[in-house]
Amino acid sequence: MAASTPDPAPTPSPEPIPAAAPAAASVPATPVPTPPPGSIATPSLTEDALARLNAYGRKGILAATNSPLVAENVRKYGMRFGASRFVPGTTLDECIVALKDLNAKGLRVNTTILGEAVDNAEQAEGVVSEYRTVLDRLADERIDGNVALKLTHLGLKVDEDLAYTNVESLVAYAGERGLFIRMDMEDSPTVDATLRIYTRLRDAGHDNTGTVLQSYLYRTPDDLAALAPYRPNLRLVKGAYLEPESVAYPKKADVDAAYVSLAETMLRENRFTGIATHDERIIDQVIAFTRGAGIGSDRFEFQMLYGIRPQLQIDLVKRGYRVLVATPFGPDWYPFFMRRLAERPANVLFFAKNLIRP
Ligand code: FDA
Repeated sequence: MAASTPDPAPTPSPEPIPAAAPAAASVPATPVPTPPPGSIATPSLTEDALARLNAYGRKGILAATNSPLVAENVRKYGMRFGASRFVPGTTLDECIVALKDLNAKGLRVNTTILGEAVDNAEQAEGVVSEYRTVLDRLADERIDGNVALKLTHLGLKVDEDLAYTNVESLVAYAGERGLFIRMDMEDSPTVDATLRIYTRLRDAGHDNTGTVLQSYLYRTPDDLAALAPYRPNLRLVKGAYLEPESVAYPKKADVDAAYVSLAETMLRENRFTGIATHDERIIDQVIAFTRGAGIGSDRFEFQMLYGIRPQLQIDLVKRGYRVLVATPFGPDWYPFFMRRLAERPANVLFFAKNLIRP
């Protein structure tokens, strides 16, 4: 299995991540540590212009997500013309086929029932029941994987206690089957409640659970420090939501630099870290850091999304690293798909090309 294979020789890092720009006035005191002097690179004009274009594209697509007209059209045509690249199917059966295929390639998996904020307790109970079926199937089919879910899907926007009760019942159910549940991190107004629910679960003795931190938020170094006594199992991401500059770094270079700094702390101190990124420069830096610090490949894994950089996923497995592929399913794929378009505005061209292809 990939986890027990000795670390391979690292490939040279094409280009290190530049240091974060000075934090804005509203940023909490904790500074983002700067990488060693040798690793600082100044982006070229072209890179800078491209980064700005991408940032505008990202904001535009995330803002357009709430437009009823965009939603109607993308929902109508999206699955046929592009969304299936990121979502292997709308049913659990279709998803299980994809999970088995990924496992056969040496990749670990997680799955998520696509869907977000529910409006009432009955809807949330329906989602809990669907997740029980998913957990049963993962166990019965002996899939090397786990579940990642969103607390708003379990009722967080209705009531925090409702979301806690629902996720607690699922974490207990998963525990009986030897499975793990990760709570995704959603937009910034949900961060406090998500972290409270995570620590409540751990205080109640549930160790088969983890959550996610986002490097774009100024608050994340403080959140990480507050979680340290739990020796948590955390996934680190850059962050996928449209956030105001008062809470999140507006510049990608700062988000990337914060990512590297947070990843190093998490790898050193936490029980387990999911390095969730497709950014090869960061992946190379993490590999170099773990080798230098003697951190074994059983203490972390790379995590990527279904359909994004599949060859990189396989290459990392071949080099002896654990790789998990997040593989969601379900009919409610629209917001998930729009976030994937926003992460790489060029995806819109891919989508548009498929729409006009005869
Ligand atoms: P970056 O955006 O810099 O991309 C690096 C490279 O990866 C790109 O140049 C491109 O080659 C490729 N790439 C990235 N996104 C692509 C896309 N959509 N299509 C095609 N190529 C793409 N966010 C969040 O807020 N809460 C969460 O709980 C999670 N959970 C999560 C789980 C997992 C397993 C992953 C991989 C990601 C998340 N995310 C998330 C999303 C995350 O915040 C972020 O938006 C994406 O991972 C994109 O950022 P990268 O780190 O890949 O880097």
